[in-house]
Amino acid sequence: MHLTLRQIKIFEAVARHLNFTLAARELHLSQPAVSMQISQLEDSVGLPLLEKLGKRIHLTEAGQEMRRYCQRMLHDLRELSEVMGAIRGGRQGHLRISVATTANHFATRLLAAFIDRYPGTRLSLDVTNRKHLLAQLANNETELVIMGEPPVDEQLESVPFMENPLVVIASARHPLAQEEATISLQRIAEQNFVAREPASGTRATMERFFLAHGLPLRTSIEMTSSEAIKHAVEAGLGLGIVSIHTLELELETRRLKILEVEDFPIRRHWYLVHLRDKRLAPIAQTFSAFLLGPDAANLVNRPDLAPGARLP
Ligand code: PGA
Repeated sequence: MHLTLRQIKIFEAVARHLNFTLAARELHLSQPAVSMQISQLEDSVGLPLLEKLGKRIHLTEAGQEMRRYCQRMLHDLRELSEVMGAIRGGRQGHLRISVATTANHFATRLLAAFIDRYPGTRLSLDVTNRKHLLAQLANNETELVIMGEPPVDEQLESVPFMENPLVVIASARHPLAQEEATISLQRIAEQNFVAREPASGTRATMERFFLAHGLPLRTSIEMTSSEAIKHAVEAGLGLGIVSIHTLELELETRRLKILEVEDFPIRRHWYLVHLRDKRLAPIAQTFSAFLLGPDAANLVNRPDLAPGARLP
């Protein structure tokens, strides 16, 4: 069976009007042209689709089926054209994004708001540490990455969009949590730290910070998420250094305390990163504009962390 789109459109119009003249007028064709297409269609199907009884045209059983399928195909075609338009316009599509383990604390909130605004978005989200994020970028396995401090690399395009301060946390029962005055770095360096794994960006920053101050970093235990670190710190296994973005609940419930330490917080930023030469899909461009626009910091519920804002 060999059908053309033109035949499908013509048959649907004839079957709807049950009248060749009206169908021809609607399609801006001559009546003989319409009749010819219908008889070619009947030849190719091998069945009569219309029958004339007196002056009236009727659909045969095959014609009724043909009308049902033609309507469905034309409906699908209209929908296809709308979907293509939405993809072109960046209002729908498959967003592939990877975020740093720490960033997941706010990224899901941002993504939920984005999907709420663009419900046609299909999302693949990978949550992993800095080392893996860089490997994914290098292998073109993800389109966009949210991470702290990307390396200086000509192949990467990195845009900061929000502050990411790292603070020292202690259990509310820790002796240092009772201190009123600013704690010296020297005293902090005498403490044991619950730290992230070596491939983590937070960990790399901690190490660089202590090294730059000529002080040792004593790590008692390693853990692969801020959640685990917070639990360990709360249980009294040591101090922790985490992004302030991970702390909301623990500060509200006063289970953890941010210590006031000399030279803290360590000021950093969150970046949106992608391969410079990669042509971003329209939906990724829309997300990028959303993230870099004015709403993102508010959605994270920390407008105080927007670029340029000062920590309390
Ligand atoms: P991380 O990255 O989750 O790998 O520590 C976050 C960051 O660099 O701040």
